Amino acid sequence: MVKEESTPLDRAPILVVDDDSDIRMALEMLLSYEGYEVWTARDGAEALARLDAEEAKGRQAACLLSDLKMPGMDGIELLEALGKRHSSPPVIMISGHGDVQTAVEAVRRGAVNFLEKPLDDNHVLVTLRAAMRERRLALQNTALKKQLGSRWELIGESEAMQRLKKQVEQVAGAEASVLITGENGTGKEVVARNLHLQGPRASMPFVTVNCAAIPDELIESELFGHERGSFTGASERRIGHFEAADGGTLFLDEIGDMPLEAQAKVLRALENHEVTRVGASETVPVDIRVLAATNADLASAVEAKTFRVDLFYRLNVVPLVVPPLRDHREDIPLLSRHFLEASAARQGRAPLGLSSEAESHLMASDWPGNVRQLRNLLEGASVFADGAELGLADLEQIQGPNPQPGGTLVAATSDDPFKVDSFEDFKAQSEALFFKRKLEENNGNVKRTAEKLGMQRSHLYKKLDRYRIRD
Ligand SMILES: Nc1ncnc2c1ncn2[C@@H]1O[C@H](COP(=O)(O)OP(=O)(O)OP(=O)(O)O)[C@@H](O)[C@H]1O
Ligand SMILES: [Mg+2]
Repeated sequence: MVKEESTPLDRAPILVVDDDSDIRMALEMLLSYEGYEVWTARDGAEALARLDAEEAKGRQAACLLSDLKMPGMDGIELLEALGKRHSSPPVIMISGHGDVQTAVEAVRRGAVNFLEKPLDDNHVLVTLRAAMRERRLALQNTALKKQLGSRWELIGESEAMQRLKKQVEQVAGAEASVLITGENGTGKEVVARNLHLQGPRASMPFVTVNCAAIPDELIESELFGHERGSFTGASERRIGHFEAADGGTLFLDEIGDMPLEAQAKVLRALENHEVTRVGASETVPVDIRVLAATNADLASAVEAKTFRVDLFYRLNVVPLVVPPLRDHREDIPLLSRHFLEASAARQGRAPLGLSSEAESHLMASDWPGNVRQLRNLLEGASVFADGAELGLADLEQIQGPNPQPGGTLVAATSDDPFKVDSFEDFKAQSEALFFKRKLEENNGNVKRTAEKLGMQRSHLYKKLDRYRIRD
């Protein structure tokens, strides 16, 4: 459930517009009794004048209750005038008996609702509260979208990206599960964040679970929580990710790596909308929207019986495919500018430009590590660049001479582990370089790297986190 909080807007005044002084007085009494401050006006023109005068003092009305038929400027004309202002409060129309047709017309022109005379006190209050709640949610949404701004903005104007952004917009409002697929570094998490932030759960938690980073034996307790003493090491009761996401969105990342046993329990939790903590007898209800992502081919995993078919269908209600960067190369200049600006902002300096040679080189590259690879390369190169523009030479610094299209996946900040003074630092530097290199050799695919190195995926993830090799 979305928790309703009272905001200054709820305490802002209500403007009552009616030529009938009895109605003005009745509404004023009712609303002030409920704790609202009330302004009154006798027709549209007076209402506009009042709004202007108050705005000059920095005050806004939370809602307008306006009669339809008034001498001078009537309700419809008032609506039209309000529509021309840069922001206006929601308007509820009051129609006279038998004038419902006009009231409907008013709603078509932007009134949020209408009330019929004779007015019923309760109905007035309920309608008013609903209008203000909607307005508050709309405002919150706009604020969130602004915040979303640069951190999670999906950059790209290519046809492929426009299609993806459109799909995100269409699906964000739905409750259906979405399975996001795409190669490493294509932006699956960015897509998941957008689905959450553009949907009705935006102000509620977004919880990410990296299924590949959790050791198999801990996954159940991580997802569902555990009671104190339920297994060795469970010294306290713990809430799991499902419960933490209650009311919001649960993002099951790298879902293809979830062990079969956990898959069965996840499916049950999703179908029953409840979880059982490890070691508990009671269930806890959870209200979550599920998004999942994978770079594996889940359909093949289903065939190979390493992924449950029923869970696959449960998650794949809406499939979204994020294209590899080589399929939308035309976005590379825009993406590059975005990453150079972001790097510059972090370093507190003016953004670097990109020479046309460098840009052509980037556009010709293959990008097996996709957008993440491009971002890392540009961040690394901008550390070395000393002009106002990033040139081919700066890219070479990072990629080595004769840059190969694709180039390095991870920008090394120091490629010489001998530059340090202590043995501890040397060990850490060498280890970081080793894992960076191995990850590059596998195009950023953590699972494959772990397999090649013969280590546990979750262990490799810990190393990558420690050395900040991935984001
Ligand atoms: N369209 C995009 N616009 C802006 N930034 C993007 C875009 N796509 C990816 N990025 C950036 O690239 C990096 C990788 O993106 P993200 O983590 O979403 O990829 P992913 O598909 O989840 O990768 P992985 O499969 O490795 O988990 C992030 O820093 C992200 O901000
Ligand atoms: Mg990811």
